Amino acid sequence: MPHDALFPDHFLFGGALAGNQYEGGFDQGRKGLSIVDVEPAGPERKEMLEHPKKYLQVRDDLYYPSHRAIEFYDHFKEDIRLFGEMHFSALRISIAWARIFPNGDETEPNEEGLKFYDQVFDELEKYHIEPVVTISHYETPLGLVKMYGGWSNRKLIDFYLRYAETLFKRYGNRVKYWMSFNEINCIVTSPFIAGALVLDDVPNKKQAIYQASHYELVASAKATKLLHELVPNAEMGCMLAFSPFYANTCKPEDQIAALQQNRVTLFFGDVHARGCYPSYMNRFFKANGIELEITDEDRKVLRENTVDYISFSYYMSFTTDADQRSLLANEVFEPVKNPYVEASDWGWPIDPVGLRYALNLLYDRYQKPLFIVENGLGARDEIEPDGSIHDDYRINYLNDHLVQVAEAIKDGVDLIGYTTWGPIDVVSAGTGEMEKRYGFIYVDRDNKGNGSLERRKKKSFDWYRDVIDSKGATLNLSKETIK
Ligand code: BG6
Repeated sequence: MPHDALFPDHFLFGGALAGNQYEGGFDQGRKGLSIVDVEPAGPERKEMLEHPKKYLQVRDDLYYPSHRAIEFYDHFKEDIRLFGEMHFSALRISIAWARIFPNGDETEPNEEGLKFYDQVFDELEKYHIEPVVTISHYETPLGLVKMYGGWSNRKLIDFYLRYAETLFKRYGNRVKYWMSFNEINCIVTSPFIAGALVLDDVPNKKQAIYQASHYELVASAKATKLLHELVPNAEMGCMLAFSPFYANTCKPEDQIAALQQNRVTLFFGDVHARGCYPSYMNRFFKANGIELEITDEDRKVLRENTVDYISFSYYMSFTTDADQRSLLANEVFEPVKNPYVEASDWGWPIDPVGLRYALNLLYDRYQKPLFIVENGLGARDEIEPDGSIHDDYRINYLNDHLVQVAEAIKDGVDLIGYTTWGPIDVVSAGTGEMEKRYGFIYVDRDNKGNGSLERRKKKSFDWYRDVIDSKGATLNLSKETIK
């Protein structure tokens, strides 16, 4: 059934990427090593992320997918031209911190690194693509881990601010939407990736995680202040990984369990949007022997510098019950299986309606504009004998999620835009694989780094361009929605 456009004219449509997952060129342009550059692919990755201490240098016997990734560093003109062909109005990228401050603690930035992003922004402008920038996307300079213990050290706030100030001064006239930390809440479950924390020998890991979170939250608020001073029209957003939790039954205790699980993530949104620590954390801190070092100055900075918008990634929902103690109190979490949703090849629940739920929940809570900055399906793609790639599963996934996004807009949610994760195939952040593919553009590179790097359009390429051109009028609305 033909229907009207579903998205407003000013809606930003595009894709989202992170430097360490597509740039490659890990030692080019005087770039330093970042924490991702010592995260190997293969079976050692999990072990490394859990016990990073003995992996903090590049080893000859391991393969590191970030080192070359898909070599956007050399292919950026070609790749941005393809995004232009899909008529993107926005591209979310991250700046690799170690390209700008190779060790993290220098007083002067690396001009070669800054020039690289000048060229990327020039190229984006050519195709009228608005850059949306993540300041820190899982890629703290390794030097800051070795010399200072990562975000366990308050000094990181100043290093981060020097870096952020450099970016605001250099690119402030070209970038309106900024994000301080990618998926800041992931520090709870992935302290090395999101907090550059090496906790092998730390007895109270939760104490360390929440202290480091506090420093990141203060850094985020200070960066917001600085951005507003230096570039008055620019906006700062926090960025959450938001997978809402449903209660498995209407049993009251299951509802409390879901409430608590959601708070693990919402805590980070609450501090960013409301400017203070929510009272529900007091009980958790007490029960876990957590005493945070928070100064009066910190409280003032948090209070006076809340974010302008809330951005988030959405891939899935989870289901929980009272037998699953809250993530707040539990490090190992096994979600309850939800019989109403399917799962991806990697076992991630697929729940488009959950995105409408997430949008409404966040907007009800914060009443600030929202921005979906990641959503997509990681899948194995097959190349047909004629060279084509029929990724109908990806088209279906994105179609169904976008239909729910449109429903949320009808519900009254103020939404800035939607950028799919990995519009071109990139290295998986979780597994280090290349073959967990999200793109509209296939890249010939495998899990071990073999392949020609040739870029090839998948079926979803034209599909997404048509969705963008028609503002959603080409989406398939065959499924029932609740009005
Ligand atoms: C988000 C991250 O967690 O999910 C991205 O911000 C990541 O960096 C994406 O790539 C998808 O996860 P994965 O593990 O499939 O790459």
